[in-house]
Amino acid sequence: GAPVTVDISALQEGQRVVVEWRGQPIWIVKRSPAILAALPTLEGELRDPNSENVDQQPAYIQQENPQLRSLKPEISVLVGLCTHLGCSPEMVAEIRPEPFDPNWKGGYFCPCHKSKFDMAGRVYQGVPAPTNLLVPPHHFADDNTIVVG
Ligand code: FES
Repeated sequence: GAPVTVDISALQEGQRVVVEWRGQPIWIVKRSPAILAALPTLEGELRDPNSENVDQQPAYIQQENPQLRSLKPEISVLVGLCTHLGCSPEMVAEIRPEPFDPNWKGGYFCPCHKSKFDMAGRVYQGVPAPTNLLVPPHHFADDNTIVVG
């Protein structure tokens, strides 16, 4: 399929825009400073915290920022399909205070079999999904324009 160009100039912190590329939902999310600060604290709970499974993202993403899995820290681009059986996970981006799960640092939750991913799409340990969410090939054409594909 052809590359998809997305204008993210109106994307606010905490928001997600969903576009389609090659029949797949592509999520583009603007992460807050609080979410970015939480990501490095999750290392011990994740299966592949440094994105060492090279099949899960383009090499330039892995080199740029293996924990954030992004070219720019705040902007995350992911394929929105669970790596277990392909359901679409829900975004629960905020850091949840009690009485919700006090340990929840924001991320994605797959309703099909309860897999959990953080806000970089990194899979938690002990869930059915075997790998991190995929990062599609993409680049910035300019500060507010992402080209997926
Ligand atoms: Fe997501 Fe099974 S499809 S946990």
